[in-house]
Amino acid sequence: MNFSKKIINWYKKNYRKLPWRETKNPYYILVSEFMLQQTKVSKTTIRYYLNFIKKFPSLEKLAEAKEKDVLKKWEGLGYYFRAKYLHSFAKKLKNDKKSFPKKYKELIKYKGIGPYTGAAMASICFHEAIPAIDGNACRVFSRYFGVFNDSTSTTIKDKLRIMVSRIMDFEHPGTFNQAIMDLGSILCTSKNPKCLLCPVQDTCFSIKNGTVYKLPIRKIK
Ligand code: ADE
Repeated sequence: MNFSKKIINWYKKNYRKLPWRETKNPYYILVSEFMLQQTKVSKTTIRYYLNFIKKFPSLEKLAEAKEKDVLKKWEGLGYYFRAKYLHSFAKKLKNDKKSFPKKYKELIKYKGIGPYTGAAMASICFHEAIPAIDGNACRVFSRYFGVFNDSTSTTIKDKLRIMVSRIMDFEHPGTFNQAIMDLGSILCTSKNPKCLLCPVQDTCFSIKNGTVYKLPIRKIK
């Protein structure tokens, strides 16, 4: 069985049930991706997500909202520029009379949608095979491939994006990316990784070479 098949089989049995995984609506998924930038999945983020989409149930409703009302629903989550960028995305699409962008290259033109969020959106909503490399994915793949570059640099993410694009699941890219997110938060954790339960332990560079605890490299700036 190849890498992506093992990862997807593991995910089918172990995935986290999260409300934004029960929808195909790109707007709902975008809200979740903005909320999860620099923020872990938790009961709190789930509550904020549900409250936000209840108050602003569509991109149109969000575009019509006042900024102070949008910020009010974000209050307590921090990184308020995320709420501002999400709101400006909705307003810009409405002003330009555009439909929701469906391609990675289009998505990353908007403020607040970087390579990670663009890849998550393009893969989950529009089946485009682009690896979503955030801090968790960086840890998983630095260990798996044995990448010793500084994990806080942008070059490592570019490098990993190329490496992962060769082994990701082209038919189910969104499931693949979310499976890596779950693997990183359940098994391939920074402290106490559970390598014995890992579906790709037999081909992992770091298990073979004893570098699980050494990777990823974090240069102190
Ligand atoms: N972090 C960022 N995006 C996520 C998603 N779709 N599922 C779980 N965690 C995430």
